[in-house]
Amino acid sequence: MQQQTIICTDIRKAVTEVVGKHEPEDIFILTDDNSLHYCFPLVKDIACLKDAHLINIPAGDENKNIDSAVLVWKYLSENGATRKSLIINLGGGMITDIGGFVASTFKRGIEYINISTTLLGAVDAATGGKTGINFMGLKNEIGVFNPARQVLIYIDFFKTLDVQNLRSGFAEMVKHALIDTREEWQEVLKFNLDEVDFELLHTLVDRSIRIKEKVVEIDPKEQNIRKALNLGHTFAHAFETFSYRVKRPVLHGYAVMWGLLCELYLSHVKLGFPKEELLKLKYMTKAFYGLFDFDCHDYEALYELMTHDKKNESKEINFTLLSDIGEIQINQTASKEEIFEVLDFYLMG
Ligand code: GLY
Repeated sequence: MQQQTIICTDIRKAVTEVVGKHEPEDIFILTDDNSLHYCFPLVKDIACLKDAHLINIPAGDENKNIDSAVLVWKYLSENGATRKSLIINLGGGMITDIGGFVASTFKRGIEYINISTTLLGAVDAATGGKTGINFMGLKNEIGVFNPARQVLIYIDFFKTLDVQNLRSGFAEMVKHALIDTREEWQEVLKFNLDEVDFELLHTLVDRSIRIKEKVVEIDPKEQNIRKALNLGHTFAHAFETFSYRVKRPVLHGYAVMWGLLCELYLSHVKLGFPKEELLKLKYMTKAFYGLFDFDCHDYEALYELMTHDKKNESKEINFTLLSDIGEIQINQTASKEEIFEVLDFYLMG
């Protein structure tokens, strides 16, 4: 497969080459308030973008909804977009998800490029072809699988991120390493999240994206091995939704890290995942992510949230677990008692 994602050191050159290859009739750049402020200035005067239309929508996952999609469809219609137009999604996961969805459905689909401006978006949402919007309170309820023509990653954009957003993105890289090899796992464990070396981050992001691309290439529509990318996410989604409910919102990647810790413990109990690797993850989580604040009175609420996870099949809660680093076991289930035991482990710190 031709590599879909390019990690570039010169964003101007990369955009010029990608747009040049594509020869669109016109270009529409989709941003939100954050990427408009921090990232658009770095690309706006690239020659091939000088006549591009700019569409800006409000930032935040709560705006990844049908109203924002309508705004973008309307703008495209009113400004003469055709099947030969190109949409450039410049932003984090919210923008690449909604922009990919709008592009995939406008006039039955026009080409789009993702330029990810956040680490989380770069290693997760921007690659792999999942597009969508939230609907009726459900995340990514409406959407299609349709990969971007190209994904561009420019590490310098990440220098504008605060430390929490960098750590949030890194959690998905930890997940990729765990489903891959011991060598990758050692690399992420060594990375110093207190003092980020952006050159090393460049190398690790590249390797991390290749892990995801390898999985997606085999199973683009998540019928099988792509479920490996859900490692940690059953608990993570429950923590994340619960955090919003109790008005102590957490970043997605923090919930992923806590979810990984829970699901590796479950992997240890059910499949013999090595304890020493679990303890390494526990150490890293406590050092850089802290622990989510809940107590045993919240177990039922967390369990209830897991029963509504859209990854579930029939009435069972579905997990992806590991029997060792890189040894993926999809379609695993756990009883309520086992899930409560995991929460006990988590709380005992
Ligand atoms: N975020 C997991 C996936 O793309 O499948």
